[in-house]
Amino acid sequence: MKIAYTVEEVRKQVKAWRQEGLTVGLVPTMGYLHEGHASLMKKAVEQNDRVVTSVFVNPTQFGPTEDLEDYPRDFDQDCKLCDSLGVSLVFHPEPSEMYAPDFCTWVNMDVLSKTLCGKSRPIHFRGVCTVVSKLFNIVTPDRAYFGQKDAQQLAIIRRMVRDLNMDIEIVGCPIVREEDGLAKSSRNTYLNAEERKAALILSQSIFLGQKMAEEGETDAAKIKNAMVEKIQTEPLAKIDYVEVVDGLSMQPIEKIEGATLVAIAVYIGKTRLIDNFILQ
Ligand code: PAJ
Repeated sequence: MKIAYTVEEVRKQVKAWRQEGLTVGLVPTMGYLHEGHASLMKKAVEQNDRVVTSVFVNPTQFGPTEDLEDYPRDFDQDCKLCDSLGVSLVFHPEPSEMYAPDFCTWVNMDVLSKTLCGKSRPIHFRGVCTVVSKLFNIVTPDRAYFGQKDAQQLAIIRRMVRDLNMDIEIVGCPIVREEDGLAKSSRNTYLNAEERKAALILSQSIFLGQKMAEEGETDAAKIKNAMVEKIQTEPLAKIDYVEVVDGLSMQPIEKIEGATLVAIAVYIGKTRLIDNFILQ
């Protein structure tokens, strides 16, 4: 497995693969990799001749008061995991390699990026769309892999690819959870023992809402209220949002009919965690 720190190194390698007629998959990450990321890489290795994983804590998707400085990092461990899964190239640029001091070109999405996480993190999806576009331009993959864990991000990337005619297949992968239900996340490492226990309220409320919907409940407010009440039983939890939205537009809906996303963001102490389920 190779490690590249510059755009030029990646371009050179991908060009060589292309000359051999090989297909390329891309798994964008911010590192501190866990089994959620691993599931994306496994899928990518299955479906492509070569896989590139990017490990880049992208500064432009963090707000001024967010956890950019504290975001967990362990590049050596990440490389071991990538290598063991059959990844061919890890791209690990410095922020200065990705953003020139006078950088001023952004990919900004309306509508979809204004709700859910976009409400409490106003510049987040501008940073995500911009860095993902850059990674797409650098790697020029045939396919790129994103987790359903970040359902709004996945919907936004799909829309960006469609709207901007990017010739890349976006592959969505299911949420990987801990045995007790908590969705795996690099940010789970912020939780102390008491908070880790309290964090189970997220998946418990998700499973409750999912059960109601599967049993035929179509009233979004009823599902939402039941989930809110469940979360409120946990004293360490503070709700950012509990929303039922259209699966494509990310806009709130009242009645569940077509593809629907039920998404939550909850603070456990200072740590903001997200979870969701989808209905087709
Ligand atoms: P990061 O949080 O590192 O996640 C990288 C990818 O792994 C995302 O597509 C995310 O949805 C997926 N993922 C994380 N936890 C998962 C889980 N428990 N199950 C399934 N998939 C999971 O998302 C980002 O980085 C960044 O915003 C990025 C797209 C890399 C742009 O900077």
